[in-house]
Amino acid sequence: MRQRINYGVISASNMARSHMKAIQDNPNARLVAVCDLDLAKAKRTADLFGADQVYQDYRQLLDNAAIDAVVICTPDQLHREMTVAALARGKHVLCEKPMALTVADCQAMIEAERAGKARLMIGQICRYTPGFVAAKDLISRGKIGELFFVESEYAHDYSRIVGSPTADHWRRDPLRHPFLGGGCHAVDLLRWIAGNPTEVTAYANRKMLRDMPTDDCTIAIYKFPDEVIGKVFVSIGCKRNYTMRSVFYGSKGTIIADNTTPHLTIFKDGFAAADGLFDAAATHTVPVLLPVSLNNHNTSGEINDFTRCLLEDTAVTTSSVEGASTVEACLGAVKSAAAGKPVALQYAHLQGGSL
Ligand SMILES: NC(=O)c1ccc[n+]([C@@H]2O[C@H](COP(=O)([O-])OP(=O)(O)OC[C@H]3O[C@@H](n4cnc5c(N)ncnc54)[C@H](O)[C@@H]3O)[C@@H](O)[C@H]2O)c1
Repeated sequence: MRQRINYGVISASNMARSHMKAIQDNPNARLVAVCDLDLAKAKRTADLFGADQVYQDYRQLLDNAAIDAVVICTPDQLHREMTVAALARGKHVLCEKPMALTVADCQAMIEAERAGKARLMIGQICRYTPGFVAAKDLISRGKIGELFFVESEYAHDYSRIVGSPTADHWRRDPLRHPFLGGGCHAVDLLRWIAGNPTEVTAYANRKMLRDMPTDDCTIAIYKFPDEVIGKVFVSIGCKRNYTMRSVFYGSKGTIIADNTTPHLTIFKDGFAAADGLFDAAATHTVPVLLPVSLNNHNTSGEINDFTRCLLEDTAVTTSSVEGASTVEACLGAVKSAAAGKPVALQYAHLQGGSL
């Protein structure tokens, strides 16, 4: 069995640096190269994280035979082109969320993976957020009974991130709808816990960031399997701190998880002490706070898991089909808000992509 994965990271942004730190901290991973259009930034970043090679053109990085896997952390518009090129050269890919801006792009990426031997994982980082992992674990062990309603939100103030209307920021792209760009975190979280939604109805407005080319607030109602109803709220103009408050309602209890809170809030009747987690006296009117570590961008968890999958030659945890299904569910909501009617969601054409 191989002992180490050699990485190249495409982009030297803060998020890319978080991936580089995670690679640096993993004894089975090594950062070989950094690429960024801004070569000086790439050099500074490579020095910071001990990478020997620096590139301005990602295709040259892909030609480096020493590199086994790449992390693609460039603007969403570039995910398809870079992923397809990397897979064609036999490099495994960890591609940042959202997988791509259209389902057709996702399909092209799935095809590229299918055509070769390299693996593609999508960086849906909430699947590594300790509070969300703990909530999923409790739900799958039946601790709150049968789910009937799930909700999540992505509330963030982008006014400073996207700059002035004249700023040439890649997030100011009509194709980069916030419900996909940021909302994919919340939609993916609900899909991970409740399965693939089959229909969506959404409403949207643009009362905060009026100079953006897209609506900045969307509320989507989803039909999940087993008659579970879901709601996702996304705002990129709200005046509050960043949050992904998510609530899971079951027949025996309720869990509130927020990636900015160091505990889960759980309501449940009659927890046995044998549960090991809760006071036997807990009732549904008294919240139990279950401590979780606060790590809302757990790139270490993600890189460690991806590296392990590659070394053990097992399927990746968040497959290309998973990433594409989240894009389908997000874009369905965008389409519904624009059309003013429910939209059916289809996944059959995405199946069979991942190794
Ligand atoms: N998982 C998360 O929570 C999370 C958080 C932030 C961003 N993201 C995602 O990460 C990606 C990058 O976002 P960001 O906020 O870091 O972006 P950013 O705008 O801060 O940085 C993008 C970097 O990519 C470089 N770049 C652009 N085109 C390039 C090219 N052709 N070749 C090489 N480098 C190029 C730019 O020079 C810049 O340094 C996006 O897909 C975004 O959606 C994910």
